[in-house]
Amino acid sequence: MNLLAVVAVAVCAFTQSAYGASDTIAWCYHEESCGESKWPTIAAPFCNGTRQSPINIVTENAMEDGNLTEFTFQGYGSSSALTIIENTGKTVKVGLRSGTKISGGGLSESYDSLQFHLHWGNGTAVPGSEHTVDGKQYPMELHIVNSKSSLNGNTSLAVADPEGLAALGFLIEELPNTENQPDSWKTLASYLSNITEAGTNATVAAGISLDDLLSGVNRTNYYRYLGSLTTPACNEAVVWTVFKDPIRVSKNLIDLFSTTVHIGNTSSPLMVNVFRRVQAAQPVSTQPRSGSSAHAGYSLALMGISLVMGRV
Ligand SMILES: *[C@@H]1O[C@H](CO)[C@@H](O)[C@H](O)[C@H]1NC(C)=O
Ligand SMILES: *[C@@H]1O[C@H](CO)[C@@H](O)[C@H](O)[C@H]1NC(C)=O
Ligand SMILES: *[C@@H]1O[C@H](CO)[C@@H](O)[C@H](O)[C@H]1NC(C)=O
Ligand SMILES: *[C@@H]1O[C@H](CO)[C@@H](O)[C@H](O)[C@H]1NC(C)=O
Ligand SMILES: *[C@@H]1O[C@H](CO)[C@@H](O)[C@H](O)[C@H]1NC(C)=O
Ligand SMILES: *[C@@H]1O[C@H](CO)[C@@H](O)[C@H](O)[C@H]1NC(C)=O
Ligand SMILES: *[C@@H]1O[C@H](CO)[C@@H](O)[C@H](O)[C@H]1NC(C)=O
Ligand SMILES: *[C@@H]1O[C@H](CO)[C@@H](O)[C@H](O)[C@H]1NC(C)=O
Ligand SMILES: [Zn+2]
Repeated sequence: MNLLAVVAVAVCAFTQSAYGASDTIAWCYHEESCGESKWPTIAAPFCNGTRQSPINIVTENAMEDGNLTEFTFQGYGSSSALTIIENTGKTVKVGLRSGTKISGGGLSESYDSLQFHLHWGNGTAVPGSEHTVDGKQYPMELHIVNSKSSLNGNTSLAVADPEGLAALGFLIEELPNTENQPDSWKTLASYLSNITEAGTNATVAAGISLDDLLSGVNRTNYYRYLGSLTTPACNEAVVWTVFKDPIRVSKNLIDLFSTTVHIGNTSSPLMVNVFRRVQAAQPVSTQPRSGSSAHAGYSLALMGISLVMGRV
């Protein structure tokens, strides 16, 4: 998610973006000198902004919005949608083939799905999701990063648009009393041993689809708010969707993330606790409770306008 070396391209971790520019902001998760408490100063003016992600979602405060209809997912059933899996030094990121798209879901237009990546803590013992729900933090979180189709992959335009990016957040919970489930996650995690060092990557063989990885999530039910990238430069350009159902994954697979990949070469620390802490609350909306009519909740349109004015 960095653009022209200034703006981050992915919703979260970026050292090198898919666009080839490298991040000029020397940020990190693990050291006092470059950790998240320093982001507001090393990556002003966005990381110290007023529309920052992630947030704690307070379910009882979510306003009903009948515009939050179902999504249409294009290419999510394709078993060859995943291209390259990469250790960026900040996350594990998987590129998505062009033609993978989303629309509907209350979004203003279609968005191209560019990549997904993960955030985690230290195995199932130390949770590492970014969003929390009623204060509960999950072991991991998967983010699918999408960019407005009309911007043709121009990430400088996307991060300058208050809704230029759409991020889909999936909370990941432990599936108890199992190993290596689901199969799609076993396959995904099997690549970790090929990318133990930062800057390395591997080609993902055909066989697993996004639908397979998102198994068990009813994608009609979600929370919506306007926020930011969760890594520097923290651009306030993201329409967030956090699905209510978690993806359930065996503990041994969750644990592989924090025990296999390193933040540098294999002599460097393991990649653990790669998430940002929750930021100030934002207005959140969700589908009307069944039976109730679509009476207006918080107006996202108005919110967008006021944010645009507030940013300049
Ligand atoms: C963030 O930092 C910038 C640059 O220092 C400053 O201009 C801006 O007012 C700050 N914003 C907030 C919300 O503190
Ligand atoms: C992560 O957990 C492992 C195993 O419990 C422990 O040895 C290690 O110190 C932890 N790492 C951090 C950074 O907390
Ligand atoms: C993105 O769009 C801007 C404004 O139209 C343009 O100046 C820039 O060259 C574009 N970047 C790319 C990579 O196409
Ligand atoms: C991953 O590593 C294994 C064992 O070293 C190797 O057999 C396999 O070809 C590698 N896969 C990829 C996609 O690089
Ligand atoms: C994958 O790694 C190779 C070898 O280091 C490198 O040339 C290539 O640019 C990398 N690809 C991606 C998408 O990072
Ligand atoms: C998903 O949730 C919607 C709304 O709650 C419900 O109508 C639908 O039956 C659910 N779909 C599945 C497959 O459970
Ligand atoms: C790992 O990187 C460090 C710091 O860059 C370097 O000093 C060390 O020699 C490297 N170790 C290996 C095994 O490559
Ligand atoms: C729903 O969409 C309509 C038409 O775009 C808009 O006028 C209305 O404000 C939206 N409702 C909410 C709650 O955002
Ligand atoms: Zn992320």
